[in-house]
Amino acid sequence: MEAILDIETIGARGDAVARHEGERVFVDDALPGERHRLRLEPADRQGRRGRSLERLVTSPERVTPPCPHYADCGGCALQHWRAESYEAWKRDRVVEALARVGLGDVPVAALESVPPASRRRARFTARQTREGTVVGFHQRRGAWITAISECRVLQPSLARLPGLLAPLLEAFPPPRGKALDISATHSDTGVDLWIRHERHPPPDGLARLAAFAEAADLARLSWGGRTPEILIERRRPAIRVAGLALEPPPDAFLQATPASAETMMALTLAGLGEARHVADLFAGIGMLSVALLERGRVTAIDQDRGMLAALEAAGRAGGRSDRLEVRVRDLMRRPLVAAELAAFDAVVLDPPRAGARAQAETLAEAVNVDTVVSLSCNPATFARDARLLVDGGYRMGTVTPIDQFLWSAHVEMVAVFRRAPPDGMPAASSLE
Ligand SMILES: C[S@@+](CC[C@H](N)C(=O)[O-])C[C@H]1O[C@@H](n2cnc3c(N)ncnc32)[C@H](O)[C@@H]1O
Repeated sequence: MEAILDIETIGARGDAVARHEGERVFVDDALPGERHRLRLEPADRQGRRGRSLERLVTSPERVTPPCPHYADCGGCALQHWRAESYEAWKRDRVVEALARVGLGDVPVAALESVPPASRRRARFTARQTREGTVVGFHQRRGAWITAISECRVLQPSLARLPGLLAPLLEAFPPPRGKALDISATHSDTGVDLWIRHERHPPPDGLARLAAFAEAADLARLSWGGRTPEILIERRRPAIRVAGLALEPPPDAFLQATPASAETMMALTLAGLGEARHVADLFAGIGMLSVALLERGRVTAIDQDRGMLAALEAAGRAGGRSDRLEVRVRDLMRRPLVAAELAAFDAVVLDPPRAGARAQAETLAEAVNVDTVVSLSCNPATFARDARLLVDGGYRMGTVTPIDQFLWSAHVEMVAVFRRAPPDGMPAASSLE
């Protein structure tokens, strides 16, 4: 079925939205103000899609996408939109999420941008096809893979990997009909690669992998379906932060770009002010903890033992063990309770997309914690948890959105919450 529809807006997943008989229709490669002749597809779990057959009215905000793979690669959704409009839309995602929970009056700063070619983590996919092994990113729709020959988002050391991996994987083909995932991290000492193959390489395959690691100048190569087995380590992958060398385990979480990590660290340090003992919750490998260690004591908590071990080792090697404590704990099931939180002047919260509802609830009761710095990659759960903190007596400061995932629909954000002084008391800042 065909229809001529006007595009009204860009939706939360980064696709354009039109309306047909009251129902929303999602369209790729379209912009607000445009009119498209669309083929309407049957609705599925994610709603109804319209495939553009012809663009009848073009937005003045349309630009030529810089990437040659943009038409089908699922990595980027919004390269065809003028930068100012794209950035305003991203910022609005945060403004709207806050408004939905009654925090529409909280100031939201302009979007902090990150440069292209700076993303330091990627997850590629490989598949066997009749033409050979294809390595790249999932296409926007369907199960196909776009073979990547260049990428405007990734660090060059990562962008060249699909071209190098495709011939290698002819010798280690992905299982027929199945996708093979490959995780790659750019570290200061070189690329850390994990080929998530279920089948162990045959003994004579190891020499080929070693030659590949040499030719590609990898720091480390790991193998294995569920858990990585390190096959080759030419150099230990390391990330230097605040004078310490963090050595991440294969596929450890890392903030996506060095520039966004710097911005997050600067906002966190500024927000914490003079706090002497900080709980870094959902600390991961401790990117924020190491910056905080320069000022005082840190207790870093996360459920991932491997990442905390890397943080602990970095603290030891850098002579900061006396100020650093790490604790393995599931903070969703067992958030720190008010009595435990009383040990800290301030808390940093940086949960996964699901947010930190349980922890925000106990923070709302923790009257001794003056400052909470909240970082998030999901406007909806960020706003939900912010509401809990505000209802618990915190004042919320300006939110800074960060464009950590360039040209995607994702946005990172940071805000500082401070306990309002009891009635009749002067604000903390005037006591200093
Ligand atoms: C957004 S990352 C934050 C990483 C860290 N703050 C940084 O800057 O590198 C989210 C972290 O939450 C951790 N996490 C996820 N679920 C958790 C849970 N139930 N309890 C504790 N930590 C959890 C993950 O291991 C991950 O390190």
